[in-house]
Amino acid sequence: MKDSSVRIPRIGVMDSGMGGLSVLRELLALPYQVEFLYYGDLANSPYGEKSTSQILDLTRAVCHFFISKKVDAILLACNTATSAAALKLREELSVPIFGMEPAIKPALLAHEKEKIALLATAVTHREEKLQELKADLGAKERILHLNCDGLAHLVDQGDLQGARNLLQNILRIPKEEGVKALVLGCTHYVFLKNEIMDLYPEAILHDGNQGTVRHLANSLHLDRVSGRPTFELHFSSPEKPNGIRQFALQLLERGL
Ligand code: DGL
Repeated sequence: MKDSSVRIPRIGVMDSGMGGLSVLRELLALPYQVEFLYYGDLANSPYGEKSTSQILDLTRAVCHFFISKKVDAILLACNTATSAAALKLREELSVPIFGMEPAIKPALLAHEKEKIALLATAVTHREEKLQELKADLGAKERILHLNCDGLAHLVDQGDLQGARNLLQNILRIPKEEGVKALVLGCTHYVFLKNEIMDLYPEAILHDGNQGTVRHLANSLHLDRVSGRPTFELHFSSPEKPNGIRQFALQLLERGL
């Protein structure tokens, strides 16, 4: 019998745009009765080419929106926002803040003695969070940094051909160097797995989505509320709200 005294948890999931939907998709596969509120800050995307303080301000504003909706926890489903803002917002806000981490550790473990490549935004590459992770893992020499400026924006636009063209260029270096393990360090790129595999069939892809979802579910004890999750979608862009919603639903169901 269901315990009716258990409150249904409400969790805010944010990203600069559409990328966090790749995480929401996995959250919605959980057998738990949770209300997810998704916020894509499309009016300000991409975050990955902005300054740290701009990203902090934008992420903070989204967190305040979630707090006004009485969420129990917030997931920054964006590596860039996590790198630039998570530490500060955890100090400022009283709701638990979860974030993303590029799956460097599992990739290094799975490809012992090999180099791995990290595809991420300029902000994720340069922020201290990644430098600390690399130092902790003693892996400075084993990571090839691939700057993917522009790629997240093409995903937000649904421009698959443009993304493919840019990827062709980005993947040139790991292909030439024979680096097969690719870490998708931006939630947008998870929607490009088929294109990446098509352009580089020998590649082995790693992303942090499942690890994050597992960590969130365990930390918040979501298994106490068995059932089906629900979701609401919010976007900051005032343009074409119906088109954006349709595109977001397509990403959740079928991908890009
Ligand atoms: N989805 C975001 C991430 O995981 C970044 C995209 C952007 O540049 O806004 O890093």
